[in-house]
Amino acid sequence: MKPRRIAIIGFGAIGSDLAVALLERGKELYRLGILLDPASTSRDRVPAGCKLLSSIEELREFQPHLVVEAAGHAAVRTHVPACLGLGFSVVITSVGALHDPVLMEGLIALAEGSGGRIILPSGALGGLDYVRATRGAAGLGIRYESRKPPEAWRDELTRLGYDADHLEEEVVLYQGTARGAASAYPSNLNVAATLALAGPGFEATEVAVVVDPKAKGNTHSITGESELGTVRIEIANRPSPRNPKSSWIVSRSLLAAVEQHFSPVVML
Ligand SMILES: NC(=O)c1ccc[n+]([C@@H]2O[C@H](COP(=O)([O-])OP(=O)(O)OC[C@H]3O[C@@H](n4cnc5c(N)ncnc54)[C@H](O)[C@@H]3O)[C@@H](O)[C@H]2O)c1
Repeated sequence: MKPRRIAIIGFGAIGSDLAVALLERGKELYRLGILLDPASTSRDRVPAGCKLLSSIEELREFQPHLVVEAAGHAAVRTHVPACLGLGFSVVITSVGALHDPVLMEGLIALAEGSGGRIILPSGALGGLDYVRATRGAAGLGIRYESRKPPEAWRDELTRLGYDADHLEEEVVLYQGTARGAASAYPSNLNVAATLALAGPGFEATEVAVVVDPKAKGNTHSITGESELGTVRIEIANRPSPRNPKSSWIVSRSLLAAVEQHFSPVVML
């Protein structure tokens, strides 16, 4: 089998973790192109062996078998439509951007027109196979709760008049629909958006964002019920040993998505 060419958009905490993991698999399996703006400070960190790409035109010439966006919500608006329009399939990490129905419908239309596919990884979350299977079941209710220590929400707490260093009680930062959560905190609630897309949609998925002074780390919980049964999932992610600001599991989820894309055996 010839090496697969993977274009990664972005080389921050998640993109660099993914790139290192793919390079460790061996260059007979994967060749990497990294798309970054010409002025990006991340360019200096891109390891030898990866092709630096500076524009969509250069990405097109690289002819990737798969594109992975790990750059942020703005890149979902600028680069992902161009990639789908060229017929490339794209793994989108910044799933929260898809709470905008105009963007989502536009991307789907591009994918349908070109044969590219939009691939949504489970990212920091899990159990999406179960949630997906409950779609359409009678009595379906799906809830997501994010619980993080004050440090994770320092700026938001300060804006609301709380002192993040001396918080004694829990603060519910948000309670409502997944659409409202993704719109209020786009870069923090990719997981709520992923759950909504897997399950009953942005309006019917309930979200609570809790700041907990007793929390030791970041936890994600999913609870739900339907005629099929009940579900309760709690996930506490560890930071990446290479990039402490990123949950280790996110780049591993992208790695799994890349491997599934090319695997003769697909597990959903
Ligand atoms: N799905 C999930 O569960 C999940 C979890 C965590 C983070 N995320 C999302 O993943 C994305 C990446 O996270 P990160 O921690 O690696 O971020 P980061 O800030 O560490 O890195 C972002 C990288 O993208 C590059 N970049 C920014 N805009 C770009 C553009 N328009 N074109 C090309 N490159 C661009 C930057 O130079 C940098 O290299 C974030 O948007 C975040 O919201 C998703």
